[in-house]
Amino acid sequence: MTTTVITNIGELTTVDPDHRVLHNAAIVIENDKIAWVGPVEQAPAADQRVNAQGRAMLPGWVDSHTHMVFAGDRSAEFEARMAGQSYAAGGINVTTEATRAASDEELTRLLRHRVDEAVRGGTTYVETKTGYGLEVDEEVRHARLASGEVDTVTFLGAHLVPDGTDAETYLSAVTGPMLQQVQPYVQWADVFCETGAFNEEQSRRVLEACAAAGLGLRVHGNQLGHGPGVRLATELAAASVDHVNYLSDEDVDRLASTWDNWDAPSVTGTPGTVATCLPACDLSTRQPLAPGRKLLDAGVQIALASNCNPGTSYTTSMNFNIATAVLQMHLTLAEAISAATMGGALALRAQDTVGSVEVGKRADLHLLDAPAAIHLAYRPGMPLTHAVWRAGQRVV
Ligand code: NIG
Repeated sequence: MTTTVITNIGELTTVDPDHRVLHNAAIVIENDKIAWVGPVEQAPAADQRVNAQGRAMLPGWVDSHTHMVFAGDRSAEFEARMAGQSYAAGGINVTTEATRAASDEELTRLLRHRVDEAVRGGTTYVETKTGYGLEVDEEVRHARLASGEVDTVTFLGAHLVPDGTDAETYLSAVTGPMLQQVQPYVQWADVFCETGAFNEEQSRRVLEACAAAGLGLRVHGNQLGHGPGVRLATELAAASVDHVNYLSDEDVDRLASTWDNWDAPSVTGTPGTVATCLPACDLSTRQPLAPGRKLLDAGVQIALASNCNPGTSYTTSMNFNIATAVLQMHLTLAEAISAATMGGALALRAQDTVGSVEVGKRADLHLLDAPAAIHLAYRPGMPLTHAVWRAGQRVV
């Protein structure tokens, strides 16, 4: 057993059920878990001692929505968009071609590099999706490679109907051999329910098949316009619906009602459908920012995630997403931090393991080079991540 005590934490944002923010705090890590949290003067001895020198600490970010298994470059598409073109789902095929052409070694190298980059920015729990394979062997290959590099993997065979096939033939593969063969590697299933990708009936078919196979559900919904994504996600008790840029009042009500049996203060009960907001993506596609403020006010649990992918959000920076949520989505700092930690954990149903600084949780910690976490929004764009512990190991 190895123990480490981190002393002189100037400000500790716990995201615990009481939302405590401690000053002059200390934390003891025992192997991969948090063993003690409290005032620095009461800190027990440990094998190793790290002096935080008054810096601010918070739980590591939980990035609950990424598409990191890809090769190729779409910067020209992005540049054209900044010059006035609008985003269309079809760009996924460009990445699919490049990703299929990459070897296992190359894809693993690229994925590992992106995960490392995320960790260097304070992310300690990472979800990623398949979805740039779009044929049986490739989706299985991407799922297999991803499962060795991230905390949890989502099967997104239903990202787009690939070139050269029709929707019916493709969906038979997605709900048949593809689903069957990705299962050893994935915990979740997702569908891009949007004009240009899959309609409501097709999305339902995919989600029902995946649920019957035992996978948890999430939905890409309401990203490019109003649509059935939220309705479908709430009806099928999906753990999250992601993007949520275009919401009717009914959509917000539907999401809120899924949280009726959840007691947010005590973090107990049955969690509902998390609305995952992806601010970097919204900026990169020039979509209206997701209505995070409205969702919170209605009682919906939200998450903030990076959506790292080559088409709509080529960043792993959760710090950037926090700054945007505070500066432009009108979330308070505490709400933004909670959404990017406990919110992400709830979206991945990992709230018993990660998402807060509490005794017994995985020791996933993010030490800022700043005396207070508000610097994340006060000093946007600055490299504020000073140190990171992931499952008790200092990795930055
Ligand atoms: O989450 N919306 C669908 N999927 C990705 C974009 C994929 C791409 O354009 O390559 C997203 O934004």
